[in-house]
Amino acid sequence: MIPLSEYTNIGYICSKKDYGDRVVDHAGAVFLAALSRSAQSIEVLTATIAAKFAGVDKGTLQRDVMEFYAMLEEDGFVVSGETEAALDAKDKRFSYSDIEPKTIKKDFTPLVKRSDVSTQTFLEQHFKGKPHLTALQIELTSRCNERCVHCYIPHENKLTDIEDVLFYDVLEQCKALGLLNLTFSGGEPMLHHHFIDYLRKAQEYDFSINVLSNLTLLNDDIVKEMKANRLSSVQVSLYSMKPEVHDAITMVKGSFQKTRDAILKLIDNDIPLQISCPTMKQNKNDFVDVLNFANEHKVRAITDYTMMARYDHTTGNLDNRLSLNEVEEVINAIVNNDVDYQSQLASEDFNILPPQNDGEDIVCGICVSSICMVANGAVYPCAGWQDCVLGNLKEQSLQQIWENSPKVQQLRSIRKKEFPQCRQCDDRLFCAMCMVRNANENADGNPLKINTHFCKVAALNKRIALEWRSKAAQNK
Ligand SMILES: C[S@@+](CC[C@H](N)C(=O)[O-])C[C@H]1O[C@@H](n2cnc3c(N)ncnc32)[C@H](O)[C@@H]1O
Ligand code: SF4
Ligand code: SF4
Repeated sequence: MIPLSEYTNIGYICSKKDYGDRVVDHAGAVFLAALSRSAQSIEVLTATIAAKFAGVDKGTLQRDVMEFYAMLEEDGFVVSGETEAALDAKDKRFSYSDIEPKTIKKDFTPLVKRSDVSTQTFLEQHFKGKPHLTALQIELTSRCNERCVHCYIPHENKLTDIEDVLFYDVLEQCKALGLLNLTFSGGEPMLHHHFIDYLRKAQEYDFSINVLSNLTLLNDDIVKEMKANRLSSVQVSLYSMKPEVHDAITMVKGSFQKTRDAILKLIDNDIPLQISCPTMKQNKNDFVDVLNFANEHKVRAITDYTMMARYDHTTGNLDNRLSLNEVEEVINAIVNNDVDYQSQLASEDFNILPPQNDGEDIVCGICVSSICMVANGAVYPCAGWQDCVLGNLKEQSLQQIWENSPKVQQLRSIRKKEFPQCRQCDDRLFCAMCMVRNANENADGNPLKINTHFCKVAALNKRIALEWRSKAAQNK
């Protein structure tokens, strides 16, 4: 159990066993903050908490404290016991053997339709669009050992490693700012010679760490560090179960074998994993096999057919994007196989009419709760938006950029009402419109000029969902 952070009015806790997390209110935040990695008696915990609540009866407080921690224990966040040995025996780590086998149907989940509100979204809603940095993505190196046909990073720009001084300085700043989540990405992050040291340091700071990697460079030392590192999870890109299809996308012969072997190695070592299978022309018929493979190994898998253009606006990579007809086939496959999506569609509460009063809502979390930095210190709103420089961490602090950069202020102030055609649009609930996708595909880099490809995909999504609903109603 790791109490990660206490904000003004809420607390956040993350479990190293199943990577679930919880956000609690003000009193809960005080209860969480009293916890530490070492065992403490209920009396000591109650005394620590009592110091924060003037005039509360000790007996009542102790009962509340016990109730709160019992609830956390029930959900797997803390353990209790009479002796340290009893605590250690109960303190289970994440293990694939504890996961119920899944069916292919259960996990056929598209990125664009998620029903649950993630913690990141919860925090954004909690702060009501007020800026509060909780997540940073760090591109440890822009170098890569693959040459994927769809990559949003132009291959000629894959040249730079982050320097140690900058990395450790940024980590220190993140701690001071109360940041929760760090994502290590690239290029290929494992190409950085100090990748293991960086993982270790981030663990010392108690951040929740997610690594995005092709895993071709995974070795025993990295596995050992990830095992020791209680808060790492990994997202790996796997495009097909056919070596020739995967390798044709990465443009590296033998890459499928390495990635697949590394996935199995991480599973054997109980490292939490998610497989990402972006779908494009080359693998449009193959991603179901990837999802089957994932389910067989009790790993979560996601697919995404919304490819974005390169950040320098050279759109050649989009030659690999699915045509609308191909997208239709993929959405049909999802609707016909994803039981979670089906139950959403079948629900009486299912509503295709978007809310009318969300004009003041933020569009997404960029510059409100999250930001991204790359190896040369440049800071961007998100990983794919690298022609939008917000500042440089070699010249300014993260806090200065977060608080004072005019571009941060401008992006942060964008609200849904700035997209008038979306306000009128009946397909809005089926839409994955995104500012970086607009910006990269527009020659002038304008994030507000909507890319009509995504409107067409939204219309398809809606039509197929409604058709499925009426068929389901007829079959009742
Ligand atoms: C940029 S890579 C970095 C991490 C690592 N090299 C990897 O491939 O997993 C992160 C993810 O972005 C995906 N990606 C790359 N180019 C993309 C694009 N144009 N649109 C959408 N996703 C893209 C990759 O397939 C990968 O899953
Ligand atoms: S998607 Fe990842 S592995 Fe492929 S070229 Fe881009 S950075 Fe490298
Ligand atoms: S489909 Fe187009 S107009 Fe409608 S909400 Fe999405 S981006 Fe806006």
